[in-house]
Amino acid sequence: MPPLAAQQYETTKMIHLKTDEEIEILRENNILVSRALAEVGRNIRPGVTTRELDKIAEDFIRANGAEPVFLGYEGYPASACISVNEQVVHGIPSDRVIEEGDIVSVDLGTLLKGFVGDSAYTFAVGQVSEEAKRLLAVTKEALYKGTAQAKAGNRVGDISAAVQEYVESFGYGVVRELEGHGLGREMHEAPGVPNFGARGRGPLLKEGMVICIEPMITMGSRAVVFERDGWTVRTRDRKPAAHFEFAVAIRRNGPDVLTDFNIIEQALNN
Ligand code: MF3
Ligand code: CO
Repeated sequence: MPPLAAQQYETTKMIHLKTDEEIEILRENNILVSRALAEVGRNIRPGVTTRELDKIAEDFIRANGAEPVFLGYEGYPASACISVNEQVVHGIPSDRVIEEGDIVSVDLGTLLKGFVGDSAYTFAVGQVSEEAKRLLAVTKEALYKGTAQAKAGNRVGDISAAVQEYVESFGYGVVRELEGHGLGREMHEAPGVPNFGARGRGPLLKEGMVICIEPMITMGSRAVVFERDGWTVRTRDRKPAAHFEFAVAIRRNGPDVLTDFNIIEQALNN
């Protein structure tokens, strides 16, 4: 059944501002997600299946007193979204075997103390092509460029435009069909945070908002296909895609990033 017209607009949904205490709980969640991503990253190697990686993520999250919030979300059947090469996001863990040269997006979520963590990182498996390396570097840098705009007084469009301009200057594609989102007691709160748009447009960013910024970037065409499993999104031309996601609190002085990629990158270098 199609939704009622009035329900199609994100702007009708309320933006929940968070107190400092709530932001600290959100930080706890997203640090746990960062540690879980590091744990999965340590175990990504040729021969491992995405289902085995999902189990590692689920066990790690539960061992730290949290729930894997993706499991059962709108019927989603796993704890992690693991998207390999041409898969953009929402890959369902399976018997797919990771191979040397793959790029693997891992997206994890937690529920701890009534709030949600949600962050993602794309890992390179062994020696990857120079063009894949560049795609990962540009996507991560696009996330940083967007994050730099996440301050009170700016608008969502300032984030969107910063991501889009950077990415498109390299000739890469910005996926239009999916976007970032507010984060709090729910995984998907208002506002939506597109990775394309115009400066000065969209909802005003206010102190106490917490959002997820998550560029999904393609090496070739930006066109995507939704697989018939009901979840997996892949590129139409089957060229690789990358995805990085930060949870960020909006502060007067600038962005307060609640996710910690240093935890992940230190784990990879050891
Ligand atoms: N992490 C995804 C997002 O940012 C959501 C995962 S979908 C789920 O929107 F079903 F797996 F939860
Ligand atoms: Co998200």
